[in-house]
Amino acid sequence: STPARPVVLETIAEVRDALAGASSLALVPTMGALHDGHLALVERAREVAETVVVSIFVNPLQFGEGEDLDKYPRTFEDDLDLLATLGVNYVFAPTAAELYPTTPIQTTVRAGGVATLFEGRSRPGHFDGVLTVVAKLLNIVRPQFVLFGQKDAQQVFLVSRMVTDLNLPVTVEVVETVREDDGLARSSRNRFLDDRERRAARVLSQALEAAESSADRGIDSVIAAAQSVLMGEPLVTLDYFAVVKPSTFQPVDDDYRGPATVLIAARVGETRLIDNERIRLG
Ligand code: PAJ
Repeated sequence: STPARPVVLETIAEVRDALAGASSLALVPTMGALHDGHLALVERAREVAETVVVSIFVNPLQFGEGEDLDKYPRTFEDDLDLLATLGVNYVFAPTAAELYPTTPIQTTVRAGGVATLFEGRSRPGHFDGVLTVVAKLLNIVRPQFVLFGQKDAQQVFLVSRMVTDLNLPVTVEVVETVREDDGLARSSRNRFLDDRERRAARVLSQALEAAESSADRGIDSVIAAAQSVLMGEPLVTLDYFAVVKPSTFQPVDDDYRGPATVLIAARVGETRLIDNERIRLG
């Protein structure tokens, strides 16, 4: 028999009614087009809380002019079927008018300086949009736990800082990046890759692996190792490659030793992909 689909809540009032008696609650914020990466977050949510709410909302506030807001994949019925197999209780799927009834919004969360680096450099205002919608979702659902994927390392950093800086009463749980068999990080945007691009896209994770293997020999070796992998793939145009300190998300100094996160963003054809790996620089 087919498992029961989650209850779909479309309004804030419905959320308040449905969740009024929930004992322990975990929220998994998503933009839908769900894949194994999202599902790993849901599975972890099921472990930490009794009731799981997955939000599905393609947040216009975090998309810039000329970005893929209209093209962003929407697969709502399939998403519900997938979530049914995992025993998710509720899906919160508001309309834009429900979350942003009076536009333009007057009050937003402003991320700090880290939001202007890396992803924020290519996408001005993106992280303000992310933090604003996450704050709204937290205030609407009021979960004890909220789950994010390490795949979006800068998002994890900035959300965690918001929770700390604003004393939000929630625990952030971070889930490891889920990958395809050949190493490519799962992403809703992978479906835009044609066969040639899909094969080329492997170099992102391969560059991170090369970086990790060279970590003992310091930052220069890490950069050289990644570069030589990336140079072998003409279909991939690097946007940025950086090694940052996990505690500050700022690029490491030349003589830095210790934990670090290697970030990569690249275009493969028209599709922009990101990935990262945590390493220890020796
Ligand atoms: P979205 O891209 O749908 O991702 C939802 C969550 O799934 C994020 O926490 C993301 O890091 C995680 N995720 C995506 N791919 C993953 C993978 N391969 N392995 C592990 N986790 C993965 O990120 C957003 O939506 C939005 O910015 C959102 C937080 C919902 C705010 O609008």
